[in-house]
Amino acid sequence: MIRVENLHKQFGGFRAVDGATLEIASGSITGLIGPNGAGKTTLFNVIAGVHSPSGGKVTLDGEDITGLPPHELFHKGVLRTFQIAHEYGSMSCRENLMMVPADQSGETLWNTWFGRKRIADEERALRAKADEVLEFLTIEHLADHKAGQVSGGQKKLLELGRTMMVDAKIVFLDEVGAGVNRTLLNTIGDAIIRLNKERGYTFVVIEHDMDFIGRLCDPVICMAEGKVLAEGTLSEIKANEQVIEAYLGTGLKNKQKEEA
Ligand SMILES: Nc1ncnc2c1ncn2[C@@H]1O[C@H](COP(=O)(O)OP(=O)(O)O)[C@@H](O)[C@H]1O
Ligand SMILES: [Mg+2]
Repeated sequence: MIRVENLHKQFGGFRAVDGATLEIASGSITGLIGPNGAGKTTLFNVIAGVHSPSGGKVTLDGEDITGLPPHELFHKGVLRTFQIAHEYGSMSCRENLMMVPADQSGETLWNTWFGRKRIADEERALRAKADEVLEFLTIEHLADHKAGQVSGGQKKLLELGRTMMVDAKIVFLDEVGAGVNRTLLNTIGDAIIRLNKERGYTFVVIEHDMDFIGRLCDPVICMAEGKVLAEGTLSEIKANEQVIEAYLGTGLKNKQKEEA
């Protein structure tokens, strides 16, 4: 579905992504792992149009999507989750979901020339959709809670929920498990598996929790220093010499930093 060819992203003279080449198969839940600073987030941001690449190419089902801005990718069903914007913290969880289509598409739904009836119909449909999403994620009891006041894990579920308000093809998740307790992490994992199986979503998942990666992802791609080191099942990746060295290497570097 997605093909990344020889992708580069430089910040000043620093090569955060340094010739990454990989493919994401349609229908897969692909894991992206690698030590801190490997370039995983930067790779996501380049694919999702947040950063423009310094070189290389990204295609979606054969169509060149290199450097397209996020709202155009959104229309093609390519979504990356973002933290719930600070200014939406005082809105309810339901309202946060209802905002998504207008927010991301750049269309202003609320103050258009549409007739009032049309707006009321749209709002009713959005509300029903939002409630369906909350139920799917088992957080329907939070519908009227302020998004700024739910737990970290529940926020992550809500971020995932935002991708369900539209017809996503492929969703990029960057460390959904960070700071989330085990129970909620399992709920997030269940939701990802169900979205994959029942709605055909393709996922690319960056996560440090190897149990989570092992449960969800096949294949797993390992990056280090801006490049793809290896691809395979998690057990293949874990047994890969280069992968072990990359993890040990940063482990040592971090240790040296701490000691310095
Ligand atoms: N906006 C930026 N400006 C400068 N350097 C950056 C920027 N974003 C990331 N980097 C650097 O690029 C490298 C890769 O970062 P990142 O993609 O966040 O890695 P990962 O997500 O794998 O931990 C890091 O060394 C980081 O400091
Ligand atoms: Mg990162």
